[in-house]
Amino acid sequence: MTDPHPTLRRFLTRQAGPIDPNLVFLIEDIASACRAIGNALRNAAFEGTQGHAGAVNVQGEDQKTLDLIADDIIARSCENSPDLAALVSEEREAAHWLKSPEAGDYLLFYDPLDGSSNIDVNLSVGSIFSVTQVAAEGDTDVLKPGTAQRCAAYALYGPTMMFVLSLGHGVYGFSCEYGTGDFRLTHARMRIPEETGEFAINASRQRFWTAPIRAYVADCLAGEDGPRGRDFNMRWTASMVADVHRILTRGGIFLYPADADNHGAGGKLRLLYEANPMAFLIEQAGGAATLGTGRILDLAPEGHHQRVPVVLGSAQEVARLADYHTP
Ligand code: AHG
Ligand code: MN
Ligand code: MN
Repeated sequence: MTDPHPTLRRFLTRQAGPIDPNLVFLIEDIASACRAIGNALRNAAFEGTQGHAGAVNVQGEDQKTLDLIADDIIARSCENSPDLAALVSEEREAAHWLKSPEAGDYLLFYDPLDGSSNIDVNLSVGSIFSVTQVAAEGDTDVLKPGTAQRCAAYALYGPTMMFVLSLGHGVYGFSCEYGTGDFRLTHARMRIPEETGEFAINASRQRFWTAPIRAYVADCLAGEDGPRGRDFNMRWTASMVADVHRILTRGGIFLYPADADNHGAGGKLRLLYEANPMAFLIEQAGGAATLGTGRILDLAPEGHHQRVPVVLGSAQEVARLADYHTP
């Protein structure tokens, strides 16, 4: 009888279609790193690692000790992966080259710990990954659009640790089995419901919002009596991985727009480590991901740590939000 919950390795080698074996090794190294980060998170209170590292990253954000631990775990777990040419991390100023790049080599982008403000309060956090390939020998340009992604994934350190992956042919979720530590398939071909009655936005920023965001949220809040003619629910976890996972599971729309406060920076979320991989996963699950209007995956990056506005989730709702931008 076929195992209804094949391991990640079995899925990659027998069920996911033809894949370069070196990409399989890289994905397995990423998954191993996530297991190790999960352990570091579980033991953080004993090891005194829950607090601030006392350092600031290149983007001017305070680093948590676990941001740095997770970054180090991923680098050590993946740096010997065959054909991996460079690591590009949210927590590091520049790309870390492991070899001189050859055509087809892999580039790994990652947000080692996403939602790290949730660590102290023991709520869900995650890690986000994106893989592209070197175009030609000697090509050290890592600034490729999201359409160039070969695969994207995230780990969610929640009540169940999960690894959610897309190689461009649908989205597959693997749960970490207690005892063996194996990631085993539990969520095949994840699909986002097209319609939704749930939105996610940090409402404390309302005074900074642009007119279209303000109008969209006001119409949702007006509920049954307003122009939408239905009641909406609202959720915000302050961990993009957790919010995206909820949307992949039961639908919804997630907004982190550019506003009057973050406008100079371009938004809050990072294109290469957050917006692109999540947009890839959301589109692969039948949803949509935009900057408010244009598609995230089509944007040509201008810098490693570039920030962008992000609107993603159920396709109909993302399209409706874009309509609010049309005068
Ligand atoms: P990170 O912990 O990697 O810096 O990312 C935090 C991000 C994202 O996970 C989340 O959606 C958002 O920042 C939360 O922002 P607010 O603090 O404005 O809620
Ligand atoms: Mn993040
Ligand atoms: Mn982070």
